[in-house]
Amino acid sequence: MDTGHSRGTWGSRSGFILAATGSAVGLGNIWGFPTQVGQGGGAAFVLVYLICVLLICAPIMVAEIALGRHSRLSPAGAFRNLAPADSSWWIVGALGVATGAGILSFYSVIAGWTIAYIWFTATSAVSGNAESINHFFEAFTSNGVVNLALTSLVLGATATILLGGVRAGIERATKMLMPALIVLLLILAVRAATLPGAEVGLDYYMRPDLARLLDVSVFNAALGQAFFSLSLGMGAMITYGSYLGRREAIGASTVWIVILDTLIALLAGFIIFPAGFSISGFDPTSSGPGLIFTVLPRLFSTIPGGNLFGAAFFLLLSMAALTSTISLLEVPVSHCVDTRGWSRWKAVVIVTGCVFLLAIPSSLGNGAVGLFSDLPIIGGNFLDLMATIWNNFSLPIGGLLTSIFVGRVWHVNRALDELCAEGASFPVASLWIFLVKWVCPVAIGSIIIATALVTF
Ligand code: TRP
Repeated sequence: MDTGHSRGTWGSRSGFILAATGSAVGLGNIWGFPTQVGQGGGAAFVLVYLICVLLICAPIMVAEIALGRHSRLSPAGAFRNLAPADSSWWIVGALGVATGAGILSFYSVIAGWTIAYIWFTATSAVSGNAESINHFFEAFTSNGVVNLALTSLVLGATATILLGGVRAGIERATKMLMPALIVLLLILAVRAATLPGAEVGLDYYMRPDLARLLDVSVFNAALGQAFFSLSLGMGAMITYGSYLGRREAIGASTVWIVILDTLIALLAGFIIFPAGFSISGFDPTSSGPGLIFTVLPRLFSTIPGGNLFGAAFFLLLSMAALTSTISLLEVPVSHCVDTRGWSRWKAVVIVTGCVFLLAIPSSLGNGAVGLFSDLPIIGGNFLDLMATIWNNFSLPIGGLLTSIFVGRVWHVNRALDELCAEGASFPVASLWIFLVKWVCPVAIGSIIIATALVTF
């Protein structure tokens, strides 16, 4: 699989499901979701998130996979080929390319932290009471040299896997990973639930404060998080769909991916909040991106053999992050291969280099360099800025345009032909049409406009 003309295909349907799940399951579930729940005020965020997943993201995932499989092209090519001649729809594909690079630029920083924590937990470097664990995190993330080295390690590993080709690289890694991760998460959830004070956390996580539902920012954050967690809105699923064989049922695959991804995110919450609230003085709102890196080491310290257990956990999380970074890099790379005729090698080297340059301010913005850590005028650090731009705005806008494109330009009937190709069953066709044509554009459009009105 090295040119756009000889596209590889997945070895089997489970190969596709595993790879797409590998893309979906990552830091978004275990780092992003609890962090967002903490900032969005608990169970109300969870409620809105689940609604977004069901009514907006699941139908868009079906649309993206169908679009990719039908066109057999990377996103920009898919939009260009299926739109009327001379229209500007290719821009959606181009937006996806920029978004992939943008997300990867901050994602690789967090993935670097995860890798470092394998070592820190294994060697008990991070231990002691909550305060010393917090200090450790702050000292570590503000070390510029170490952070740059870790970010380059993540990007280098991702680039190396991509050069190995789609099937060999991605398919293999995910098979073992997912069951192991789920087992570890279940054990941790059980342990967390038995800690003193766990009920407060469970309450926070499961009993929604309905007043929060009046806050547009909760809707915007939940929508962005749902897109981010399911790898939607930037063409990753279009690209993966383009390698999918005609005989596989898209609807059934989507159901699997959505269920697995959502369960893993929910499970992460069942660990972080009971464990967090068992620590005195815990405030989920102010924890920010350090939430899991400060709560989990505390939790491991309550388990016999906790440092090995913790190291295994961070190892699995690093691998899950890697199967996600692969899909983030794959979109801009396959774009350059398909539309510029570059060799896969050249595309990987150039795109990775550009992403690294953009990753520098995120990597140095956690205390190492003052300018990036506390941005002039807007405040906050560079990593938060990147996460907000790409997750909360770029992905939903990409999803909005995709739903308009599939619902009205390429047209739902052609999409349905693709969904039911070779006799595949898609029993929810009319519901899907209604969601893609009406619910997705109206809901995403209103959330984005309302957020813009509140913010500016
Ligand atoms: N979904 C991944 C996660 O939850 C991140 C990711 C991988 C992603 N590929 C993507 C997000 C494409 C948006 C678009 O960790």
